[in-house]
Amino acid sequence: MIELKNVSKNYNKGQIKAVDDISMEIMDGEIFGFLGPNGAGKTTTIKMITGILNADSGSIKLNGFDIKKDSIKAKMQFGYVPDDPDMFNKLKGIEYLNFMADVYEVPQDIRRERIKTLLDRFSLYDSAEDLIQSYSHGMKQKIIVIGALLHNPSLWILDEPLTGLDPKSAFILKEMMREHTSQGKTVFFSTHVLEVAEKLCDRIAIINKGKIIFCGTMDKIRESAKGNESLEKIFLEMTENE
Ligand SMILES: Nc1ncnc2c1ncn2[C@@H]1O[C@H](COP(=O)(O)OP(=O)(O)OP(=O)(O)O)[C@@H](O)[C@H]1O
Ligand SMILES: [Mg+2]
Repeated sequence: MIELKNVSKNYNKGQIKAVDDISMEIMDGEIFGFLGPNGAGKTTTIKMITGILNADSGSIKLNGFDIKKDSIKAKMQFGYVPDDPDMFNKLKGIEYLNFMADVYEVPQDIRRERIKTLLDRFSLYDSAEDLIQSYSHGMKQKIIVIGALLHNPSLWILDEPLTGLDPKSAFILKEMMREHTSQGKTVFFSTHVLEVAEKLCDRIAIINKGKIIFCGTMDKIRESAKGNESLEKIFLEMTENE
């Protein structure tokens, strides 16, 4: 479970209110989509949840552990995939995965099995010995996803994880998200693909100019729009009007 209470974040000495007093709860067993226009505050929120940025105010708990007060325990709860996978370029894929497994103290026999299974699943096995800098964008995205999942975290926190993935890899990741939540665990991810949100998510939140303007199920969003409109139309109307 991920809990945010009255979380805010300003940039440039308060000139930019990137995240403005947001509260939400992402429950166990739930695929939760985080939507909103460019610059709405999604990445800033995700960076606060993962402890990369400090919130100016409010509290964030991951499976009950406060990200500020109990940061190591809180960080052990999740696997995080950032929006930009361009990193660790000087490592080979397999070196990166072993590095991540070391950081999260995954025992040798378990890591070997998980690395093999995940590399196979994402068709990356043959590239494991290559430098990450030689990977395509999608391959980098996939190696980061694998690295984030090696310690079998209960919470997956993914910033636009499907961007740049080919249809097969996107399908596999979505399938894995479903498997994960069917075991009572949690997926929180941002996306611009409304169709994905519609088909995959149990609930969504829409953020606009730093404020949550909707949080709930697809049925609830349709009710509030009072009609049979597409999510695209509802989304555009909601984010226009604010
Ligand atoms: N390091 C920073 N310094 C100053 N302003 C920033 C910084 N990072 C983000 N911002 C501003 O904060 C606001 C929220 O940005 P954020 O990256 O969280 O949006 P986003 O919803 O993730 O957008 P996108 O859909 O484009 O990824 C924007 O106005 C952005 O310009
Ligand atoms: Mg972003």
